[in-house]
Amino acid sequence: MCVPQRCLTNDDLAQIVDTSDEWIRSRTGIETRYVCSDGETTAQLSIAAARAALQMADANPRDIDLILVGTTTPDHLMPSTACQVQDALGATRAGALDVNAGCSGFVYALAMGHQAIASGEHNLVLVIGADTLSRTINWQDRSICVLFGDGAGAVLLRATEGPAGVLATLLGSDGSGADLLMIPAGGSAMPATAQTVEQGLHYLQMNGREVFRFATTIIPRAVHQVAAKAGLPISEIDWVIPHQANLRIIDAAAKRLKLPEEHFIINLQRYGNTSAASVPIALCEAIAEGKIRPGQNIVLVGFGAGLTWAAVALKWGIEPEEAISPRWRRWWRSLIYRWARLRTDLRHLGRQVTVLLIRLTERRVNGKKG
Ligand code: UT7
Repeated sequence: MCVPQRCLTNDDLAQIVDTSDEWIRSRTGIETRYVCSDGETTAQLSIAAARAALQMADANPRDIDLILVGTTTPDHLMPSTACQVQDALGATRAGALDVNAGCSGFVYALAMGHQAIASGEHNLVLVIGADTLSRTINWQDRSICVLFGDGAGAVLLRATEGPAGVLATLLGSDGSGADLLMIPAGGSAMPATAQTVEQGLHYLQMNGREVFRFATTIIPRAVHQVAAKAGLPISEIDWVIPHQANLRIIDAAAKRLKLPEEHFIINLQRYGNTSAASVPIALCEAIAEGKIRPGQNIVLVGFGAGLTWAAVALKWGIEPEEAISPRWRRWWRSLIYRWARLRTDLRHLGRQVTVLLIRLTERRVNGKKG
Protein backbone atom coordinates (compact mmCIF):
# COMPACT_ATOMS: atom_id res chain seq x y z
CA MET A 1 0.00 0.00 0.00
CA CYS A 2 1.01 3.62 -0.34
CA VAL A 3 -0.44 6.87 0.92
CA PRO A 4 0.88 10.40 0.36
CA GLN A 5 3.12 12.04 2.96
CA ARG A 6 0.84 14.95 3.76
CA CYS A 7 -1.52 14.25 6.65
CA LEU A 8 -4.57 16.43 7.37
CA THR A 9 -6.21 16.24 10.77
CA ASN A 10 -9.79 17.24 11.53
CA ASP A 11 -8.44 20.33 13.27
CA ASP A 12 -6.53 21.24 10.10
CA LEU A 13 -9.82 21.08 8.17
CA ALA A 14 -11.54 23.21 10.78
CA GLN A 15 -9.10 25.95 9.74
CA ILE A 16 -10.39 25.74 6.15
CA VAL A 17 -14.17 25.22 6.50
CA ASP A 18 -16.82 25.62 9.19
CA THR A 19 -16.46 22.20 10.83
CA SER A 20 -15.06 20.61 13.98
CA ASP A 21 -13.16 17.55 15.10
CA GLU A 22 -16.20 16.60 17.17
CA TRP A 23 -18.61 16.73 14.17
CA ILE A 24 -16.32 14.74 11.87
CA ARG A 25 -15.50 12.07 14.46
CA SER A 26 -19.07 11.60 15.64
CA ARG A 27 -20.65 11.57 12.13
CA THR A 28 -17.97 9.60 10.29
CA GLY A 29 -15.34 8.15 12.65
CA ILE A 30 -12.56 9.84 10.64
CA GLU A 31 -9.67 11.48 12.50
CA THR A 32 -6.98 11.98 9.84
CA ARG A 33 -6.51 11.49 6.10
CA TYR A 34 -3.55 11.70 3.70
CA VAL A 35 -3.74 13.93 0.63
CA CYS A 36 -1.49 14.40 -2.36
CA SER A 37 0.81 17.39 -2.59
CA ASP A 38 1.54 19.05 -5.92
CA GLY A 39 3.08 16.55 -8.32
CA GLU A 40 1.82 13.41 -6.53
CA THR A 41 -0.57 11.37 -8.67
CA THR A 42 -2.73 8.25 -8.75
CA ALA A 43 -0.18 6.51 -10.98
CA GLN A 44 2.68 7.26 -8.61
CA LEU A 45 0.78 5.86 -5.62
CA SER A 46 -0.24 2.84 -7.72
CA ILE A 47 3.35 2.15 -8.81
CA ALA A 48 4.62 2.34 -5.21
CA ALA A 49 1.86 -0.01 -4.01
CA ALA A 50 2.50 -2.40 -6.92
CA ARG A 51 6.23 -2.54 -6.18
CA ALA A 52 5.47 -3.29 -2.54
CA ALA A 53 3.14 -6.12 -3.62
CA LEU A 54 5.78 -7.58 -5.96
CA GLN A 55 8.27 -7.41 -3.11
CA MET A 56 5.86 -9.11 -0.71
CA ALA A 57 5.04 -11.86 -3.21
CA ASP A 58 8.66 -12.07 -4.38
CA ALA A 59 7.42 -11.96 -7.98
CA ASN A 60 9.08 -10.89 -11.22
CA PRO A 61 7.30 -7.97 -12.94
CA ARG A 62 7.99 -9.64 -16.29
CA ASP A 63 5.77 -12.56 -15.25
CA ILE A 64 2.68 -10.36 -14.84
CA ASP A 65 0.02 -11.22 -17.42
CA LEU A 66 -2.56 -8.57 -16.62
CA ILE A 67 -2.69 -5.28 -14.69
CA LEU A 68 -6.07 -3.99 -13.49
CA VAL A 69 -6.32 -0.63 -11.75
CA GLY A 70 -9.61 0.21 -10.05
CA THR A 71 -9.75 4.01 -10.12
CA THR A 72 -12.03 6.93 -10.91
CA THR A 73 -9.23 9.47 -10.65
CA PRO A 74 -6.74 8.33 -13.31
CA ASP A 75 -3.81 10.65 -14.05
CA HIS A 76 -5.41 11.36 -17.43
CA LEU A 77 -8.71 10.52 -19.11
CA MET A 78 -6.48 8.78 -21.63
CA PRO A 79 -4.23 6.73 -21.47
CA SER A 80 -5.08 4.48 -18.56
CA THR A 81 -3.23 4.58 -15.25
CA ALA A 82 -2.73 0.82 -15.66
CA CYS A 83 -0.50 1.48 -18.70
CA GLN A 84 1.59 3.91 -16.67
CA VAL A 85 2.00 1.22 -14.01
CA GLN A 86 2.90 -1.37 -16.67
CA ASP A 87 5.60 0.90 -18.03
CA ALA A 88 7.12 1.79 -14.65
CA LEU A 89 7.24 -1.85 -13.55
CA GLY A 90 8.78 -3.09 -16.79
CA ALA A 91 5.90 -5.58 -16.98
CA THR A 92 6.59 -6.17 -20.66
CA ARG A 93 4.24 -9.17 -21.06
CA ALA A 94 1.21 -7.61 -19.38
CA GLY A 95 -2.11 -6.34 -20.71
CA ALA A 96 -3.30 -3.29 -18.78
CA LEU A 97 -6.58 -1.46 -18.21
CA ASP A 98 -8.42 0.69 -15.67
CA VAL A 99 -11.68 -0.36 -14.07
CA ASN A 100 -14.04 2.54 -13.32
CA ALA A 101 -16.49 1.28 -10.73
CA GLY A 102 -16.26 4.09 -8.17
CA CYS A 103 -15.25 3.04 -4.70
CA SER A 104 -16.04 -0.60 -5.64
CA GLY A 105 -13.23 -0.46 -8.23
CA PHE A 106 -10.74 -2.64 -6.39
CA VAL A 107 -13.22 -5.38 -5.49
CA TYR A 108 -14.55 -5.31 -9.07
CA ALA A 109 -11.01 -5.60 -10.44
CA LEU A 110 -10.19 -8.39 -7.98
CA ALA A 111 -13.22 -10.39 -9.13
CA MET A 112 -12.24 -9.84 -12.78
CA GLY A 113 -8.61 -10.77 -12.09
CA HIS A 114 -9.77 -13.96 -10.41
CA GLN A 115 -11.93 -14.82 -13.43
CA ALA A 116 -8.96 -14.20 -15.74
CA ILE A 117 -6.96 -16.77 -13.78
CA ALA A 118 -9.84 -19.23 -13.34
CA SER A 119 -10.37 -19.21 -17.13
CA GLY A 120 -6.85 -20.60 -17.51
CA GLU A 121 -5.83 -17.60 -19.64
CA HIS A 122 -3.55 -15.92 -17.08
CA ASN A 123 -1.22 -16.96 -14.27
CA LEU A 124 -0.22 -13.74 -12.53
CA VAL A 125 -2.54 -10.74 -12.25
CA LEU A 126 -1.73 -7.46 -10.52
CA VAL A 127 -4.81 -5.80 -9.04
CA ILE A 128 -4.62 -2.24 -7.72
CA GLY A 129 -7.16 0.06 -6.09
CA ALA A 130 -6.02 3.69 -6.23
CA ASP A 131 -7.65 7.09 -6.00
CA THR A 132 -6.80 10.72 -5.39
CA LEU A 133 -10.26 12.14 -4.78
CA SER A 134 -8.63 15.15 -3.11
CA ARG A 135 -8.09 16.39 -6.68
CA THR A 136 -11.82 16.39 -7.38
CA ILE A 137 -13.01 17.97 -4.15
CA ASN A 138 -14.25 21.46 -3.58
CA TRP A 139 -12.21 22.33 -0.49
CA GLN A 140 -14.81 24.94 0.46
CA ASP A 141 -17.58 22.31 0.68
CA ARG A 142 -17.56 21.01 4.24
CA SER A 143 -20.06 18.24 3.51
CA ILE A 144 -17.53 16.58 1.16
CA CYS A 145 -13.99 17.70 1.93
CA VAL A 146 -13.84 16.13 5.40
CA LEU A 147 -14.63 12.65 4.10
CA PHE A 148 -11.96 11.70 1.60
CA GLY A 149 -8.26 10.84 1.51
CA ASP A 150 -5.84 9.59 -1.16
CA GLY A 151 -4.03 6.27 -1.44
CA ALA A 152 -3.39 3.02 -3.26
CA GLY A 153 -3.31 -0.67 -2.38
CA ALA A 154 -2.22 -3.62 -4.52
CA VAL A 155 -2.36 -7.41 -4.53
CA LEU A 156 -0.98 -10.11 -6.80
CA LEU A 157 -3.20 -13.02 -7.76
CA ARG A 158 -1.35 -16.18 -8.70
CA ALA A 159 -2.73 -19.40 -10.17
CA THR A 160 -2.27 -22.19 -7.64
CA GLU A 161 -3.76 -25.56 -6.78
CA GLY A 162 -5.22 -25.97 -3.33
CA PRO A 163 -8.05 -25.14 -0.96
CA ALA A 164 -7.13 -21.46 -0.42
CA GLY A 165 -7.95 -18.53 -2.70
CA VAL A 166 -11.04 -16.87 -4.06
CA LEU A 167 -14.19 -18.84 -3.19
CA ALA A 168 -16.87 -16.68 -4.80
CA THR A 169 -17.40 -13.25 -6.36
CA LEU A 170 -20.36 -10.93 -6.77
CA LEU A 171 -20.72 -7.84 -8.96
CA GLY A 172 -23.69 -5.47 -8.97
CA SER A 173 -24.79 -2.15 -10.43
CA ASP A 174 -27.74 0.23 -10.51
CA GLY A 175 -27.21 3.08 -12.95
CA SER A 176 -30.46 4.75 -11.86
CA GLY A 177 -28.44 6.10 -8.93
CA ALA A 178 -25.82 7.74 -11.16
CA ASP A 179 -26.67 11.24 -9.94
CA LEU A 180 -26.04 10.36 -6.28
CA LEU A 181 -22.26 10.40 -6.70
CA MET A 182 -21.01 12.22 -9.74
CA ILE A 183 -18.47 14.56 -11.30
CA PRO A 184 -20.74 16.25 -13.85
CA ALA A 185 -18.17 17.96 -16.11
CA GLY A 186 -15.01 16.84 -17.86
CA GLY A 187 -16.51 13.90 -19.77
CA SER A 188 -18.03 13.76 -23.26
CA ALA A 189 -21.47 14.84 -21.99
CA MET A 190 -20.10 18.11 -20.64
CA PRO A 191 -16.54 18.81 -21.75
CA ALA A 192 -14.57 21.09 -19.43
CA THR A 193 -14.93 24.78 -20.26
CA ALA A 194 -14.24 27.99 -18.37
CA GLN A 195 -17.97 28.02 -17.59
CA THR A 196 -18.08 24.49 -16.10
CA VAL A 197 -15.09 25.37 -13.95
CA GLU A 198 -16.73 28.62 -12.86
CA GLN A 199 -19.86 26.67 -11.87
CA GLY A 200 -17.83 24.07 -9.98
CA LEU A 201 -19.12 21.23 -12.15
CA HIS A 202 -15.71 19.54 -12.20
CA TYR A 203 -16.06 18.86 -8.45
CA LEU A 204 -17.33 15.63 -6.91
CA GLN A 205 -21.00 15.98 -5.98
CA MET A 206 -22.74 13.64 -3.60
CA ASN A 207 -26.12 13.08 -2.01
CA GLY A 208 -24.67 11.87 1.28
CA ARG A 209 -27.92 10.76 2.91
CA GLU A 210 -29.02 8.65 -0.08
CA VAL A 211 -25.57 7.07 -0.45
CA PHE A 212 -25.63 6.31 3.28
CA ARG A 213 -29.00 4.59 2.93
CA PHE A 214 -27.81 2.61 -0.11
CA ALA A 215 -24.59 1.54 1.67
CA THR A 216 -26.27 0.27 4.84
CA THR A 217 -28.57 -1.93 2.73
CA ILE A 218 -26.12 -3.14 0.11
CA ILE A 219 -23.22 -4.19 2.36
CA PRO A 220 -25.16 -6.83 4.34
CA ARG A 221 -26.99 -7.98 1.19
CA ALA A 222 -23.77 -8.39 -0.81
CA VAL A 223 -22.02 -10.19 2.07
CA HIS A 224 -24.97 -12.57 2.44
CA GLN A 225 -25.08 -13.28 -1.30
CA VAL A 226 -21.36 -13.86 -1.77
CA ALA A 227 -21.16 -16.01 1.37
CA ALA A 228 -24.08 -18.12 0.11
CA LYS A 229 -22.33 -18.53 -3.27
CA ALA A 230 -19.20 -19.67 -1.44
CA GLY A 231 -21.21 -22.05 0.79
CA LEU A 232 -20.00 -20.11 3.81
CA PRO A 233 -22.31 -19.53 6.82
CA ILE A 234 -22.06 -15.91 8.09
CA SER A 235 -20.90 -17.26 11.46
CA GLU A 236 -17.82 -18.75 9.73
CA ILE A 237 -16.62 -15.42 8.33
CA ASP A 238 -13.49 -14.44 10.24
CA TRP A 239 -13.11 -10.98 8.71
CA VAL A 240 -15.25 -8.62 6.70
CA ILE A 241 -13.19 -5.90 5.00
CA PRO A 242 -15.72 -3.27 3.91
CA HIS A 243 -15.21 -0.09 1.94
CA GLN A 244 -14.11 2.44 4.55
CA ALA A 245 -16.56 5.31 4.06
CA ASN A 246 -18.17 5.91 7.43
CA LEU A 247 -18.02 4.12 10.79
CA ARG A 248 -21.79 4.45 11.17
CA ILE A 249 -22.29 2.62 7.85
CA ILE A 250 -20.07 -0.24 9.07
CA ASP A 251 -21.86 -0.31 12.46
CA ALA A 252 -25.25 -0.56 10.76
CA ALA A 253 -24.02 -3.29 8.38
CA ALA A 254 -22.55 -5.30 11.28
CA LYS A 255 -25.88 -5.11 13.13
CA ARG A 256 -27.86 -6.22 10.09
CA LEU A 257 -25.45 -9.10 9.49
CA LYS A 258 -25.60 -10.03 13.20
CA LEU A 259 -21.81 -10.27 13.07
CA PRO A 260 -19.89 -8.64 15.96
CA GLU A 261 -17.93 -5.54 14.95
CA GLU A 262 -14.71 -7.28 16.08
CA HIS A 263 -14.96 -9.24 12.81
CA PHE A 264 -14.70 -6.05 10.73
CA ILE A 265 -11.38 -4.56 9.68
CA ILE A 266 -11.72 -0.81 10.22
CA ASN A 267 -9.02 1.79 9.60
CA LEU A 268 -11.00 4.73 8.25
CA GLN A 269 -10.13 6.77 11.35
CA ARG A 270 -6.57 7.11 9.97
CA TYR A 271 -7.16 7.33 6.20
CA GLY A 272 -10.71 8.61 5.66
CA ASN A 273 -12.50 7.34 2.58
CA THR A 274 -9.78 6.51 0.05
CA SER A 275 -12.34 5.30 -2.52
CA ALA A 276 -11.07 2.29 -4.54
CA ALA A 277 -7.96 2.12 -2.34
CA SER A 278 -9.80 1.64 0.95
CA VAL A 279 -10.31 -2.13 0.82
CA PRO A 280 -6.75 -3.08 -0.25
CA ILE A 281 -5.24 -0.61 2.26
CA ALA A 282 -7.33 -2.17 5.04
CA LEU A 283 -6.28 -5.65 3.84
CA CYS A 284 -2.59 -4.68 3.80
CA GLU A 285 -2.76 -3.23 7.29
CA ALA A 286 -4.60 -6.24 8.65
CA ILE A 287 -1.90 -8.54 7.21
CA ALA A 288 0.89 -6.35 8.60
CA GLU A 289 -0.76 -6.37 12.03
CA GLY A 290 -0.93 -10.19 11.97
CA LYS A 291 -4.74 -10.23 12.15
CA ILE A 292 -5.13 -12.31 9.00
CA ARG A 293 -3.99 -15.93 9.31
CA PRO A 294 -3.95 -18.90 6.92
CA GLY A 295 -7.24 -20.78 6.81
CA GLN A 296 -9.35 -17.74 7.68
CA ASN A 297 -12.44 -16.84 5.67
CA ILE A 298 -12.53 -13.23 4.51
CA VAL A 299 -15.18 -11.22 2.70
CA LEU A 300 -14.19 -8.01 0.90
CA VAL A 301 -17.11 -5.73 0.07
CA GLY A 302 -17.23 -2.43 -1.79
CA PHE A 303 -19.91 0.07 -2.86
CA GLY A 304 -19.79 3.37 -4.66
CA ALA A 305 -20.47 5.56 -7.66
CA GLY A 306 -22.42 4.06 -10.50
CA LEU A 307 -24.06 2.92 -8.32
CA THR A 308 -21.95 -0.20 -7.98
CA TRP A 309 -21.26 -2.86 -5.42
CA ALA A 310 -19.01 -5.91 -5.35
CA ALA A 311 -17.97 -8.65 -2.94
CA VAL A 312 -15.32 -11.35 -2.94
CA ALA A 313 -15.22 -14.28 -0.49
CA LEU A 314 -11.82 -15.86 -0.06
CA LYS A 315 -9.87 -18.23 2.10
CA TRP A 316 -6.50 -16.85 3.12
CA GLY A 317 -3.63 -19.23 2.40
CA ILE A 318 -0.34 -17.46 2.89
CA GLU A 319 1.95 -17.82 5.91
CA PRO A 320 3.59 -14.45 6.69
CA GLU A 321 7.08 -16.04 6.59
CA GLU A 322 6.46 -17.15 2.99
CA ALA A 323 6.54 -13.50 2.04
CA ILE A 324 10.23 -12.85 2.56
CA SER A 325 12.11 -11.94 -0.58
CA PRO A 326 15.86 -12.80 -0.85
CA ARG A 327 18.08 -9.74 -1.16
CA TRP A 328 19.40 -10.57 -4.63
CA ARG A 329 15.90 -10.75 -6.03
CA ARG A 330 15.07 -7.32 -4.57
CA TRP A 331 18.16 -6.04 -6.31
CA TRP A 332 17.05 -7.75 -9.55
CA ARG A 333 13.63 -6.12 -9.35
CA SER A 334 15.14 -2.68 -8.75
CA LEU A 335 17.32 -3.27 -11.84
CA ILE A 336 14.19 -4.12 -13.89
CA TYR A 337 12.55 -0.86 -12.72
CA ARG A 338 15.62 1.17 -13.67
CA TRP A 339 15.82 -0.55 -17.03
CA ALA A 340 12.09 0.14 -17.60
CA ARG A 341 12.71 3.84 -16.98
CA LEU A 342 15.72 3.85 -19.31
CA ARG A 343 13.81 1.92 -22.00
CA THR A 344 11.02 4.53 -21.95
CA ASP A 345 13.51 7.42 -22.09
CA LEU A 346 15.36 5.75 -24.98
CA ARG A 347 12.11 5.21 -26.87
CA HIS A 348 11.13 8.88 -26.41
CA LEU A 349 14.60 9.90 -27.58
CA GLY A 350 14.39 7.48 -30.54
CA ARG A 351 11.07 9.03 -31.62
CA GLN A 352 12.48 12.56 -31.38
CA VAL A 353 15.56 11.58 -33.40
CA THR A 354 13.35 9.94 -36.07
CA VAL A 355 11.21 13.10 -36.36
CA LEU A 356 14.39 15.21 -36.65
CA LEU A 357 15.83 12.96 -39.37
CA ILE A 358 12.56 13.07 -41.35
CA ARG A 359 12.52 16.89 -41.14
CA LEU A 360 16.17 17.13 -42.26
CA THR A 361 15.54 14.77 -45.19
CA GLU A 362 12.43 16.74 -46.23
CA ARG A 363 14.38 20.00 -46.06
CA ARG A 364 17.20 18.56 -48.19
CA VAL A 365 14.74 17.18 -50.81
CA ASN A 366 12.84 20.51 -50.92
CA GLY A 367 16.19 22.38 -51.20
CA LYS A 368 17.24 20.25 -54.21
CA LYS A 369 13.85 20.83 -55.92
CA GLY A 370 14.19 24.58 -55.32
O1 UT7 B 1 -17.55 6.04 -1.04
C1 UT7 B 1 -18.90 6.29 -0.96
C2 UT7 B 1 -19.08 7.73 -0.82
N1 UT7 B 1 -19.77 8.33 0.22
C3 UT7 B 1 -20.32 7.84 1.34
O2 UT7 B 1 -20.31 6.71 1.67
C4 UT7 B 1 -21.00 8.86 2.20
C5 UT7 B 1 -22.28 8.36 2.81
N2 UT7 B 1 -22.90 9.39 3.63
C6 UT7 B 1 -22.41 9.78 4.82
O3 UT7 B 1 -21.43 9.24 5.28
C7 UT7 B 1 -23.13 10.84 5.58
O4 UT7 B 1 -24.36 11.11 4.95
C8 UT7 B 1 -22.32 12.15 5.74
C9 UT7 B 1 -21.14 11.93 6.65
C10 UT7 B 1 -21.84 12.62 4.37
C11 UT7 B 1 -23.18 13.23 6.34
O5 UT7 B 1 -23.67 12.82 7.61
P1 UT7 B 1 -25.19 13.07 8.01
O6 UT7 B 1 -25.36 12.64 9.38
O7 UT7 B 1 -26.01 12.39 6.94
O8 UT7 B 1 -25.29 14.64 7.94
P2 UT7 B 1 -26.28 15.51 7.07
O9 UT7 B 1 -25.84 15.52 5.64
O10 UT7 B 1 -27.69 15.09 7.37
O11 UT7 B 1 -26.02 16.94 7.67
C12 UT7 B 1 -26.40 17.23 9.02
C13 UT7 B 1 -25.96 18.65 9.33
C14 UT7 B 1 -26.37 19.68 8.29
O12 UT7 B 1 -26.72 20.84 8.94
P3 UT7 B 1 -28.28 21.23 9.13
O13 UT7 B 1 -28.83 21.32 7.74
O14 UT7 B 1 -28.87 20.10 9.90
O15 UT7 B 1 -28.22 22.52 9.85
C15 UT7 B 1 -25.09 19.90 7.52
O16 UT7 B 1 -25.04 21.20 6.97
O17 UT7 B 1 -24.54 18.69 9.42
C16 UT7 B 1 -24.07 19.76 8.61
N3 UT7 B 1 -22.75 19.39 8.11
C17 UT7 B 1 -21.63 19.68 8.78
N4 UT7 B 1 -21.39 20.29 9.95
C18 UT7 B 1 -20.13 20.41 10.36
C19 UT7 B 1 -22.43 18.73 6.97
N5 UT7 B 1 -21.10 18.56 6.88
C20 UT7 B 1 -20.58 19.13 8.00
C21 UT7 B 1 -19.28 19.29 8.48
N6 UT7 B 1 -19.09 19.92 9.66
N7 UT7 B 1 -18.19 18.81 7.81
